[in-house]
Amino acid sequence: MKHFLVKSVVARVLVSGGSQNFTRHFVTASAAAPELKLRHLYGYLPRMSSTLAPSPAEKDQQQKQEKTASEEKRENENGVVSSYWGISRPKIKREDGTEWPWNCFMPWDTYRADVSIDITKHHEPATFGDKLAFRTVKFLNVLSHLYFKERYGCHAMMLETIAAVPGMVGGMVLHLKSLRRFQHSGGWIKALLEEAENERMHLMTMTELVKPNWHERLLIITAQGVFFNAFFLFYLVSPKVAHRFVGYLEEEAVNSYTEHLMAIENGKVENVPAPAIAIDYWRLPKDATVKDVIVVIRADEAHHRDVNHFASDIQYQGKELREAPAPLGYH
Ligand SMILES: [Fe+2]
Ligand SMILES: [Fe+2]
Repeated sequence: MKHFLVKSVVARVLVSGGSQNFTRHFVTASAAAPELKLRHLYGYLPRMSSTLAPSPAEKDQQQKQEKTASEEKRENENGVVSSYWGISRPKIKREDGTEWPWNCFMPWDTYRADVSIDITKHHEPATFGDKLAFRTVKFLNVLSHLYFKERYGCHAMMLETIAAVPGMVGGMVLHLKSLRRFQHSGGWIKALLEEAENERMHLMTMTELVKPNWHERLLIITAQGVFFNAFFLFYLVSPKVAHRFVGYLEEEAVNSYTEHLMAIENGKVENVPAPAIAIDYWRLPKDATVKDVIVVIRADEAHHRDVNHFASDIQYQGKELREAPAPLGYH
């Protein structure tokens, strides 16, 4: 008798407890966060879920999922790969509500250039390394002016293919150093890679405006092969002189873009509408022209000039880059 009573009490507790738990679970799931909690519930109680009628919220969610799946299928049929094992890029909009058209950069990579930056600043060469860097840049500048003459667009494009290399090499060398020594870089890896990416965006903008001919393409390929390897060795041997060299390269870039702007003002170069990529990247007005683009690119070059002279100065003081705060977040 005793055994029978104990068994019936245990059975009641189990039955009522189980059903109470299930009820509480279901109510919480459907009321608070239906999508997440129902998925959780279905995961554990698949047979129970099949007997329940879907709520309006569930129906809505289901319709949305079906719509997304059919859109994805249609895009895939049209030859556009919209996801990678189910990981899709969320729909991104501009501030005006139109769809973000670029895959190569996102709205949070865009910025407004600081056009108030001093474009006349010059670092007076003081040491032997400074003078060597300065003279080398001046010599290269004479060669490029002789080759390109007044083809400002082609000159700028050639310059950008070179200018995007030092940041990548410097960032890579610092990255490897950080791995070898188990040390933080003080943000300098990111700062230099940001510079390289910004220079590459200058190039992507220029290629919308200028179409290089075959011998210019050949020159670019040759110059990259030589310059990448030479600068890599240069950076390993003397990073302080390498940064000084880049500082002077950027000073020349500022001068080149000033000449480009003068050519636009004199009517030698047509002030055509700005490429769409430039309008989004620098958050320019919709009716911006190439002149506006050159102004913001020149401001970027002036910023790179200051970053690289600063990087050189730190090392001339006998310190490592990581000991000084990296100029992050400009781009
Ligand atoms: Fe540039
Ligand atoms: Fe630059």
